[in-house]
Amino acid sequence: MRTDTGRVFRLEDYRPSDYLIPRTDLSFVLSPDSTIVTARLLIRRREGVAPGTPLNLDGDGLTLRLVEVDGKLLEETEFSAPPESFVLHRPPAKDEFVLTIVTEISPSTNTALMGLYRSNGVYCTQCEAEGFRRITYFLDRPDILSVYTVRIEASRAEAPLLLSNGNPGATGELPDGRHFAVWHDPFPKPSYLFALVAGDLGAIHDEFVTMSGRAVALAIYVEHGKERLATYAMDALKRSMKWDEEVFGREYDLDVFNIVAVSDFNMGAMENKGLNIFNDKYVLADENTATDADFANIEAIIAHEYFHNWTGNRITCRDWFQLCLKEGLTVYRDHEFSADERSRPVKRIAEVRTLRAHQFPEDQGPLAHPVRPRRYREINNFYTATVYEKGSEVVRMIRTILGREAFRRGMDLYFDRHDGEAATIEDFLKCFEEASGRDLSQFTLWYHQAGTPNISATSAYDAAAKEFTLEIEQSLPPTPSESRKRLMHIPLQFGLVGPDGQDLSYAAVEGTAVEDGVIHVRKRRHSIRFSGVEERPIVSLNRGFSAPITLSLEQKTEHRVFLARHDSDPFSRWQSFNTILTEATIAGSKRILGGGEAEFEPVIAEVAGAIVENENLERAFRALALTPPGEADIAREIGSNIDPDAIFAARDALVRRIAEANRDQFLAAYHRLEDNGLFSPEAASAGRRALRNVLLDYLATTQDGPDIASAHFGSATNMTDRAAALAVLVHRHCERAEAQDALHAFEVTHGDDPLVMDKWFAIQAAAPGPNTVDAVQRLAAHPRFSIANPNRLRSLFGTFFSGNQSGFHRADGAGYRLFAETVLEVEKRNPQVAARLATGLRSWRSLEPKRQELAREALVSIASTKGLSADLSDIIDRTLA
Ligand code: PHE
Ligand code: ZN
Repeated sequence: MRTDTGRVFRLEDYRPSDYLIPRTDLSFVLSPDSTIVTARLLIRRREGVAPGTPLNLDGDGLTLRLVEVDGKLLEETEFSAPPESFVLHRPPAKDEFVLTIVTEISPSTNTALMGLYRSNGVYCTQCEAEGFRRITYFLDRPDILSVYTVRIEASRAEAPLLLSNGNPGATGELPDGRHFAVWHDPFPKPSYLFALVAGDLGAIHDEFVTMSGRAVALAIYVEHGKERLATYAMDALKRSMKWDEEVFGREYDLDVFNIVAVSDFNMGAMENKGLNIFNDKYVLADENTATDADFANIEAIIAHEYFHNWTGNRITCRDWFQLCLKEGLTVYRDHEFSADERSRPVKRIAEVRTLRAHQFPEDQGPLAHPVRPRRYREINNFYTATVYEKGSEVVRMIRTILGREAFRRGMDLYFDRHDGEAATIEDFLKCFEEASGRDLSQFTLWYHQAGTPNISATSAYDAAAKEFTLEIEQSLPPTPSESRKRLMHIPLQFGLVGPDGQDLSYAAVEGTAVEDGVIHVRKRRHSIRFSGVEERPIVSLNRGFSAPITLSLEQKTEHRVFLARHDSDPFSRWQSFNTILTEATIAGSKRILGGGEAEFEPVIAEVAGAIVENENLERAFRALALTPPGEADIAREIGSNIDPDAIFAARDALVRRIAEANRDQFLAAYHRLEDNGLFSPEAASAGRRALRNVLLDYLATTQDGPDIASAHFGSATNMTDRAAALAVLVHRHCERAEAQDALHAFEVTHGDDPLVMDKWFAIQAAAPGPNTVDAVQRLAAHPRFSIANPNRLRSLFGTFFSGNQSGFHRADGAGYRLFAETVLEVEKRNPQVAARLATGLRSWRSLEPKRQELAREALVSIASTKGLSADLSDIIDRTLA
């Protein structure tokens, strides 16, 4: 483990490397405890660099066995190899030379899961961001592009399958039951895209013929016996390949495309050139083991990694500050893919919910950073919702500003101009400016300024003059180390909704640039006057969530109800009702804190009832509209002095109120939506299940709730329904025998399937109330739990710390003490995962004072532990700062 050196990396310090590595030949002789890696690197001095300039390579935890320059063994005095680097004091004065380095590593003891490690007996690698230096000494930075040839040698019994990047080359037998395979990747790539897999795996095979008629052999490798579970992923892969050709004109470029699923993986998946490595959670699925959400995630992540082949691999990042160049853009691409494959409005609502749940709290707390950060201590901690999700929103805004056609021209120019390069955000933006003739300089601030902008708006209608005025003001709250903010360019899609629900037209507009239904907010204040507006409109602002902002818009409930019923923009309809529910819950929690009871206007339950019945709306949409805002969403809206118990109570009361008022109608709809027993993972079927399961959650609070839920559990023919019923039972009726019986039945059926057991752990960890701390502690001792596996950790502890408001934030601080203990324990094996778990307390300052103090104590107890990793101390220090 690398302990913290406190070193800070700064964007402005970038300079090109003195040396380049145009060719990299690697040879691996694999064995669990002692793998020998021979790297033959063609080193080229960059033009203009003085001959003899020392060569400084990165390394991490390597044992150096041998060094040669141009085939000549080096003396000890000619180099030094302290723990984190290799320095060749006086490289040959000529332009190019060959440096051969032999290192020894131990995959079996690599618990950090970075570099070469073993998962279930399979050798695999993870090199992004800085894992390659744990394999050999190298210029381990993304602007060093090299052509790789890789030879892998292993015992055939242990590893019949030998994979690396690019296209397959020679293979052959060796003495003592060993064999080898050679792979060659013709596309120059940075070291973080290197990958190797060796092991004994099953596979499914398929083929894709590209737009120019080339056949690509596709394979997905999984544990033996699980081949059938990879068919959905394969289907998603072929659809992704086709979509990227049709929508972005991007064709695949190698003869093979391989995906390997492993069970120990720190993140979701990795886009290594021609050899994507996946967390098996995002590959394996059938109706009995995966929920509809799992299917949707698999489709999105398969697409995401595939799309990286162009946005990330063919064009990579100059340095890690540019991470959003590949990630934000690729998330944007996978969002568009899912929108095209499924329902665009439903996908948009889901995206916004995710953004608000993960990115907004980040942007509004101590870990806030710009989409393109300017400094970092540990780059692993910058694979964030801001870089990914807000990064995608920024690309989406470029499309909104430019329009689809100019946006596509900008993308074409980007692919054309920067193919084979390591680029920057400036390079990217320039392509859109050139392709559209627009000035994006103010817009660029979205990449540079942290924080969620706020738009406040008021409106007035002058019936006599037929004029409608909108007063809009933007503000950007301060964030860590950025106290003063500049004014942003915020594209707000909008409509003036008339009494019949249609958008009203207007004759003219004064005050700012309004173009094609978009207000371009650029100044602090805009007063926009629409003339020739025949009737009094209700303004619908930020339609489609065109900008990732918070909106303060004073609007009467009756106007919100009107928009929830009639807005032509489906996102805004959803938003209007969601705002009604949020405001009602906030008001309820205030009354509860004041010693009273939550009360709700009857119109809320009425609208909910009407939504269920409205057959003009997609079922998936109705399900989302009826889903009440989460406790964390409500806490975020309140902002400070949070008491999670009051929020829980208010939200619970709201759900009960809606259910009570609509009980018969909900029950009838619930029965109408019953399963016909035939399963399809497609959006329409998933939508039916989603709506039925939301209704179940409401009905569970009514009189025969436990019976309905346990019947639902018992008759479920797929994991979506089964897991939904289990969650309802455990979250709403955990004291009842029905809940305990269901937990037991689930465990008996799925005890041997770790991915399914993750749901069982997560559902229990999400149970509200003061008893969950103890339950989580008990579950950590369950034989199916393992502290070594990131998926198990995320299911149990990740869910509890980041997804359970009332359980984790128990008033006596027991949750926080478990947090400190767990984070420190996990850190000993896997600092990266520990650091991620530790973000569970990032919003501690918005808690009420007593909890705040207890949370602070837990954070300080971590901070004062000796020898912390760079990953963890970076998060904890920033959280406490
Ligand atoms: N680059 C991966 C992705 O977004 C994420 C990742 C980062 C995976 C670091 C592993 C390690 O697709
Ligand atoms: Zn990615």
